[in-house]
Amino acid sequence: MDGNGRWAAGRGLPRLEGHRRGVEALRRTVRAATDLGVEYLTFFSFSSENWRRPAQEVSDLMGLLKLFIRRDLATLHDSNVRIRVIGGRDDLSPDIRALLDEAETTTRGNTALTLVIAFNYGARAEIVRAARRIALGVMEGVIAPSSIDENLFARHLDTTGIPDPDLLIRTSGEQRVSNFLLWQLAYTEFVFVEQHWPDFDRSTLEDAIREYGRRDRRFGALSSAEAKVG
Ligand code: FPP
Repeated sequence: MDGNGRWAAGRGLPRLEGHRRGVEALRRTVRAATDLGVEYLTFFSFSSENWRRPAQEVSDLMGLLKLFIRRDLATLHDSNVRIRVIGGRDDLSPDIRALLDEAETTTRGNTALTLVIAFNYGARAEIVRAARRIALGVMEGVIAPSSIDENLFARHLDTTGIPDPDLLIRTSGEQRVSNFLLWQLAYTEFVFVEQHWPDFDRSTLEDAIREYGRRDRRFGALSSAEAKVG
């Protein structure tokens, strides 16, 4: 959701207005993705590094997350959307933790789009959490060190049960990964768009998916054309 601040600055508006419009773009994108048959949609909405922002902005962002869950949970549930939250829960306030738990529990059985909210998320911290869970399993004698492989490791990440992303879209002209899903992005296709996140809409999503469709995903093997020739 990159570029909320720049979107607001460009219009002489406070950053909070950019974040508010960012939440509207999120709602719009969830609807568009559901219509397009996307099965998993992940938003990087607050990174573990975002705590370094001014206290007022952090508090505004926490407020927007609470408002979103309170206002949109019923609609998302009616639309058969399943919510999953990834990221560290321990640093969050009890009211936010309770709301995130409620969102996940309420929508657990839904079968349309899975909306993954990365909140207080950092990929390195997630990998460390997974290593700690595995170490505990080894200590308790339920994991044999020889059974630790890529599959087992992935099952101990926050994203357990969620497939690796096919496509990553980064807005606002930034071309960095910024500590997002480092494990899961191994073979993901990247599309960068110049638009700031609040301007993101159905047509941007459709364009990105079309661009994805032109890519030749090889996963380290040969391209489909080369494989036929060979
Ligand atoms: C990126 O723009 C956006 C964020 C860091 C925060 C987005 C989070 C929310 C709007 C909170 C609500 C969350 C949900 C899931 C409803 P930026 O501030 O980095 O923009 P800039 O790079 O232009 O300054």
